[in-house]
Amino acid sequence: MSAEALPDLSIVEAAVCEAVRRKDATGLRILGHGEISIVLGWPADQPVHALKRVPPFRSRALAEQYVGVVEHNLHLLRAANVPVWPTELHITERSDGSAVVFHRQPVADSAQLGTNVLRSAEPSSDHPLLVAIVRHAAAVVAPGVGFDVQAANWIWDGTDAHQLDFTSPFLLDHTGKDLRFDTSGFLSEYPALLRPVLKRELLKVIVRYTTAEGAIGDMVANLHKEGLDAWMDPAIEAARRDAGVVIDRAAATKMFEDDKKLMPLTLKLKKGQRWWVTHTGRHYETLLPERTTYDR
Ligand SMILES: Nc1ncnc2c1ncn2[C@@H]1O[C@H](COP(=O)(O)OP(=O)(O)OP(=O)(O)O)[C@@H](O)[C@H]1O
Ligand SMILES: [Mg+2]
Repeated sequence: MSAEALPDLSIVEAAVCEAVRRKDATGLRILGHGEISIVLGWPADQPVHALKRVPPFRSRALAEQYVGVVEHNLHLLRAANVPVWPTELHITERSDGSAVVFHRQPVADSAQLGTNVLRSAEPSSDHPLLVAIVRHAAAVVAPGVGFDVQAANWIWDGTDAHQLDFTSPFLLDHTGKDLRFDTSGFLSEYPALLRPVLKRELLKVIVRYTTAEGAIGDMVANLHKEGLDAWMDPAIEAARRDAGVVIDRAAATKMFEDDKKLMPLTLKLKKGQRWWVTHTGRHYETLLPERTTYDR
């Protein structure tokens, strides 16, 4: 972990709440975002911390349960020899008894982000980043254990790939039909009536990540999303050769088409819910990105 002292997270939380209230992130430094988290650089003028805020939990106990699941996920990755980007979790309690979890990481060099590394290299199935990703994927996935190995989730240091995305641990409970932590904070971003349906749909997507075919297929689908189409066949070849996994390019493209329908719809629903919550005099909790990574 960086030697930098932990920033006062109640100040960060206040700044995020203010941006949520104004629906405007000006003043905050956004380092990136995926479908779930917005990644803040802190302090904004010269970031030394990358902070990922998880939607609030109703109680400290639920926040602790989530932290336990993330830590178990980190343990599973380390046990499978997957390098993990240094990550600390911190809980801040709020005056209403709810609790917010922040992931804190050192700020990564964006030139080392997997997607940027591929963008600046000649497509080849021998690229060591591709080889590392498919091997790490195959080493981790198991029934009930999903792994999101898309290129945007890795830092390539020239020798190995370090995973940096831990905000949504895809660990299923004993039923195989639910995550191991309380997802009501995540789900409360959506209109109440649609939550059960969305939960089912999102869980279907999560189950995809529990097999090597699904996780690597999703990585290939995301190459298409990133405009890295020239890397799709090399990635498919690396998966076959180095992980013994057969990926069908047409199936990966179909996965992308399905996600391209689902993900922007989920953001529209969140924005609709934000409108409803704020127009009924309540407090909306999440800083939403302007667009999804599918609308870029
Ligand atoms: N430590 C970091 N330093 C710099 N940039 C980062 C860091 N962590 C994440 N990012 C940027 O933010 C993007 C999104 O981060 P991350 O993958 O952790 O969140 P996410 O994809 O929203 O999570 P989830 O998969 O749970 O939806 C990354 O692809 C990267 O561009
Ligand atoms: Mg991510």
